[in-house]
Amino acid sequence: MENTITLKQHLIAEQRAGQAIDAHLIDLLDDVGSACKEIHDATSHGALYDVLGSADVENVQGEVQKKLDVMSNEMFIRRTEASGNLAGMASEEEDDVYSIPSEHPRGPYLMYFDPLDGSSNIDVNITVGSIFSIVKCPEGVTDPKLKDYLIPGTEQVCAGFTLYGPSTLMILTTGNGVVGFTLDPGTGEFKLTHENITIPDDTSEFAVNMSNQRFWEAPVQKYVQECMDGVTGERDKNFNMRWVASMVGEVFRILTRGGIFLYPFDTKDAAKPGKLRLMYEANPMSFIVEQAGGVSSTGRGRIMEVTPDAIHQRVPVILGSKNEVNRLISYHK
Ligand code: AHG
Ligand code: MN
Ligand code: MN
Repeated sequence: MENTITLKQHLIAEQRAGQAIDAHLIDLLDDVGSACKEIHDATSHGALYDVLGSADVENVQGEVQKKLDVMSNEMFIRRTEASGNLAGMASEEEDDVYSIPSEHPRGPYLMYFDPLDGSSNIDVNITVGSIFSIVKCPEGVTDPKLKDYLIPGTEQVCAGFTLYGPSTLMILTTGNGVVGFTLDPGTGEFKLTHENITIPDDTSEFAVNMSNQRFWEAPVQKYVQECMDGVTGERDKNFNMRWVASMVGEVFRILTRGGIFLYPFDTKDAAKPGKLRLMYEANPMSFIVEQAGGVSSTGRGRIMEVTPDAIHQRVPVILGSKNEVNRLISYHK
């Protein structure tokens, strides 16, 4: 293979070019890469490793965990907790924030992660992924408590996601654009294959779970109806629709050919202002999308500027191609 720049080599090159990437972050991302390789191994072996199906337990968010949700969570924690790069972590699958065991040294970063995104797709063999977000632990804090994690997405120093699809890919930003690495199954290394990923400003493809339509607010109703009306309506062009039900798959498609993704505010469950989680899904994807030239909003404000008040907080998400997202934001005004 011609392109042999590995994830670690890429990070070292960025550091030498003057980017704010320190040795702890490089080492942490190397560990995250190792966790993702383990998850890739488990997902790609599927039934051979007896990893499909339900674990028959509910997580703190009231969702029944899949065996692979539980395993992936363990893999993320075990691969990253002992290296002295993290002060603590928070996972979609953990009830509370996770304290680094006292036998391990603590480091300067906090990590939030969704160990397995799209887990309803595991048993039907459709792309799933892992999402992560990294911030600096607040100054002077060595034993972070819940309040120390409630930091807006603008503070992220790094965000990424891995897709376990036909090929396994890691998409990454450290605040200097977006790049992608493909896992080479031969050498077991993530290799740089996608440089300077950018989202086209315009699109004629939207992604939304249409079965929630009756619960949406008026601006989203109007926007989606106009897409559906195609050349015969206001927009005077036809739209295509996709819904993978794995945010990782939707966001990678948008990074590749543009599009708009919506999991908007809905009235389905009064306790939830949206489905997706701010810290594990919305913030890291927003950082990546903005770094690729797209826009990410709740409809009423920039997602990364939302001040979190709970670790498992949910938030409405509208992201993707600039001109379409801005149009939908304007409908909210
Ligand atoms: P998770 O598997 O981590 O709970 O996340 C699933 C999320 C997201 O990936 C996807 O966009 C959305 O839920 C799908 O929701 P519906 O099943 O309501 O379509
Ligand atoms: Mn998820
Ligand atoms: Mn998940």
